[in-house]
Amino acid sequence: MNILGIETSFDETAAAVVRDGKTVLANVTATSNLLHRKYGGVVPEVAARKQVESMIPVLTEVMQGMTPNDVDAIAVTVGPGLIGSLLIGVETAKTLAAAWNKPIIPVNHILTHMYANFIQTVIPTNVEGSHLTTTDVKDSSPPKADRNDNVIFPAISLVVSGGHTELYLMINTKTLKWLGGTLDDAAGEAFDKSARLLGFENRGGIAIEEAATHYSHPDQSASGRSVEGSLATDSGVKDSSPPKADRNDIRLPRPMLHDNSLNFSFSGLKTALLREVKKLIAEQQFDNTATRLPARQVQQLSFEVQEAITDVLITKTLRAVEQHNAQSILLSGGVAANKRLWDKFNQQLTTHHLQLFAPQRELCTDNAVMIAACAYYLNNPVPWSEVTARPDLSVEV
Ligand code: KG4
Ligand code: ZN
Repeated sequence: MNILGIETSFDETAAAVVRDGKTVLANVTATSNLLHRKYGGVVPEVAARKQVESMIPVLTEVMQGMTPNDVDAIAVTVGPGLIGSLLIGVETAKTLAAAWNKPIIPVNHILTHMYANFIQTVIPTNVEGSHLTTTDVKDSSPPKADRNDNVIFPAISLVVSGGHTELYLMINTKTLKWLGGTLDDAAGEAFDKSARLLGFENRGGIAIEEAATHYSHPDQSASGRSVEGSLATDSGVKDSSPPKADRNDIRLPRPMLHDNSLNFSFSGLKTALLREVKKLIAEQQFDNTATRLPARQVQQLSFEVQEAITDVLITKTLRAVEQHNAQSILLSGGVAANKRLWDKFNQQLTTHHLQLFAPQRELCTDNAVMIAACAYYLNNPVPWSEVTARPDLSVEV
């Protein structure tokens, strides 16, 4: 069964054709991300205008070499998301469904993320800063089946993106139960807000991850952690020991770590980080106009932000695994592209006898492949006249 998926819930205009929920026949994503840079966040009106412009070129490209006869159904994100953006995808899907006489399968964007784990095709990678290529995944994980329908259930699915941090019990590919989620900021949002506080204008989580790799924590130097990029000495030789100027007592909170629920809270992290940034600036011998930290401290704080967020994500996910006797963990969403998160999860696998899955990097962030894949598994077609955009669609199932 070939499904044409359409995704426009945020700033992407994406379309993909996927066979039987696992083989990608075509995949195109256009993003207006760069246009929003100067505003420090996505401007809904700008995103929607761009999506109106991009939709037909994206669809034309994705359908190249195919005809409507090659498509068995149309899947579309109906929510949650920005209303102006959602409407563009929804109305396009309804128009195509009516014109081509195809069933339409509405999907919940948050649920779709986890179905990126069932994709077996490798998408060519051209994204800068990409870590989670298929090769990386294979190299860093214990011997196990590739990501696909060999997932052993029950599984715990952690969907961790810019807008959501949700835990689900996946009893099988069709039956899901929401277990908990963030009470305030999402993990990706915590990365993005921290990145801004540390002076990175954009690329949130990616910028923090990149900066953190240049910091070698004293407790970690014995564990073989990479020190590449650490301070160069006058002789040009890289020095792996932490410089004396480092304050090793910087520790950010791990919110709700010991709370027994499967909920998260990340909003306190940025306040704690802001306090540290101000303190460090005050401690520097700067001239009066200096408001920014030296690179070394930005790297140290980035490292600690990443540790704090990943510690909480891992602890809560493993708690869900224990509570539900799960056999596998499925990561997804933009933050699942974080290699440190992967490495830390991998360290837990032997003790917990679990399988760990994460989509290829390009399928962690928003795309239409996951829309078509999810629609295949949930397969819940409705008449086109009943499909509406639902910006506040609940993530709880
Ligand atoms: O899933 P996604 O593309 O969009 C939403 O539906 O939100 O996720 C975007 C989020 C952003 O907050 C971004 O900072 C974060 O994913 N992200 C990362 C990494 N790559 C993207 N966070 C941590 N490490 C990364 N490598
Ligand atoms: Zn998303």
